[in-house]
Amino acid sequence: MCNKYFYVNLLFIFYLSVFHNVYASQTKNLNLQLKSVNLGNWLVIEGWMKPSLFDGIINNDLLDGTHVQFMSLKLQKYVCAELGGGTVIVANRTRPFHWETFRLWRVNETMFNLRASNKQFLGLEDENKLVADIDSPGNKETFEIVRNDHDPNMTHFGDGCEGRIKASNGLFLQAISESLISTGTVYEESIWEDNDPSIFKMTVLSDTILKGEYQITNGYGPNKASKIMQNHWSTYITEDDFKFMSENGLNAVRIPVGWWIAKDPTPPKPFVGGSLKTLDIAFTWAQKYGMKVIVDLHAAPASQNGRAHSATRDGYLEWGDSSIPDTVATIDFLAQRYGERPNLIGIQLMNEPQGVNLESLKKYYKAGYDAVRKHTSSAYVIMSNPLDRDSRVLLPFVKAFDKVVIDVHYYNLFSDKFSNMNVKQNIDYIKHQRASELSSLTTSNGPLIFVGEWTGDWKVQNATKQDFQNFMNVQVEVYSHAKFGWAYWAYKCDSNNWNLKWLLNNNYVKL
Ligand SMILES: *[C@@H]1O[C@H](CO)[C@@H](O)[C@H](O)[C@H]1NC(C)=O
Ligand SMILES: *[C@@H]1O[C@H](CO)[C@@H](O)[C@H](O)[C@H]1NC(C)=O
Ligand SMILES: *[C@@H]1O[C@H](CO)[C@@H](O)[C@H](O)[C@H]1NC(C)=O
Ligand SMILES: *[C@@H]1O[C@H](CO)[C@@H](O)[C@H](O)[C@H]1NC(C)=O
Repeated sequence: MCNKYFYVNLLFIFYLSVFHNVYASQTKNLNLQLKSVNLGNWLVIEGWMKPSLFDGIINNDLLDGTHVQFMSLKLQKYVCAELGGGTVIVANRTRPFHWETFRLWRVNETMFNLRASNKQFLGLEDENKLVADIDSPGNKETFEIVRNDHDPNMTHFGDGCEGRIKASNGLFLQAISESLISTGTVYEESIWEDNDPSIFKMTVLSDTILKGEYQITNGYGPNKASKIMQNHWSTYITEDDFKFMSENGLNAVRIPVGWWIAKDPTPPKPFVGGSLKTLDIAFTWAQKYGMKVIVDLHAAPASQNGRAHSATRDGYLEWGDSSIPDTVATIDFLAQRYGERPNLIGIQLMNEPQGVNLESLKKYYKAGYDAVRKHTSSAYVIMSNPLDRDSRVLLPFVKAFDKVVIDVHYYNLFSDKFSNMNVKQNIDYIKHQRASELSSLTTSNGPLIFVGEWTGDWKVQNATKQDFQNFMNVQVEVYSHAKFGWAYWAYKCDSNNWNLKWLLNNNYVKL
């Protein structure tokens, strides 16, 4: 008797497992298509989406990466790193261009390094002469910017305010002559006279101000950043949001993360720990409300595009072959941690590479794919099409892989061709160009295609609600032909057109 039951049981288990496997693989293919949303500005900051996050930073116009120019008040000439750096600093230019522009590295709220256009840093040489030939900044490359307190515009000086620059020897820089900037005579901090060679008019190029994770954490500094970020993570997206998303027809979230998440709880400065715990809880909430999760490496080490959302310090794209091991290690970490979660649908190896070497990118995609597969055979591996390449550039390459997705981003923005399009032209562009591009990417045994970012925002000025609804709806319809589905950018944003929660609540779109 005992034996008989044993065999019956075995048989039953056998049937169950066959049924389960068949069922599982079918449901995966049938129910795959994602209607999802990006949880942007949550675990990777994008200041434009919620500028007030930066309000509490002292001197918040002087963030990492901001471009500044200095004009000697006495000489009425701009400070220039000859040849872009590597040699002398002079003050003999009447108009500022690249060589007269410096990128800030913020040491603290008043102390800065100044990076010339050849990427070297300004520093004091032995005879207290200013040069720009240092590759990594130390004490002699650190300057205090002292603003004129009598300037009513000091808190935001837009086209220029007066200031002095105190060097590491405690003395102010002075434009001695057009060919020499040095330190010397002591000037009274409180006296501001036009012929004082220690006074410079500083111009902040406000359209160069970056507002990403690097700027917010380094801007608040080590004593405040952690508290600010913890508060942001726990309030920006909550369990109620997952409930809302699932009730409104969304079945997945794409969650941008930064490389430092793999170093939690003690990431390198200025980043702060805690985003990992937040991602853990996001998986749990998503599971509770029947939603899938894409983990998207939005900010790769050394920056894959120089944008604020890649967490760059100063706007340079520096990701390359030497960054591959660290980037793969991040993916390995994420795949190991989340590979067993039933609601992990995919891991995106990198968001929006732009300007990176294509061979390096492929080398990385191959290694990143292998890292994911070490931990899960079911999760999709998502590869961003490089923004500066044809959207078919990866198609031959990805044939070697299983369960791979190519991510394309569709915005009727960021290109002059959209500037003057009216409502109908925008809608037609989706119906024709976008639809035909999607169908040219979709092949019977090729990768799945994912429109991983799109928005209802556009350049049309006077659109009616109905126009906007039509533009949203045509995109939902066309992008639903992408076999992997789509993700709106974003769930929450101060700007309503980018805020899917607001759009759903106000009946701009129904999913
Ligand atoms: C500025 O000074 C440098 C160094 O003396 C010189 O090579 C350069 O030609 C000067 N430029 C102008 C515009 O005077
Ligand atoms: C900034 O750094 C300098 C040099 O390390 C230090 O003397 C100064 O007190 C710091 N300022 C603030 C506001 O922390
Ligand atoms: C301050 O800014 C205002 C507005 O840009 C300008 O009109 C005014 O001249 C500035 N004042 C000084 C002292 O620079
Ligand atoms: C659109 O609105 C702007 C300002 O809101 C106005 O100047 C312009 O004339 C309007 N254009 C059309 C075509 O109605």
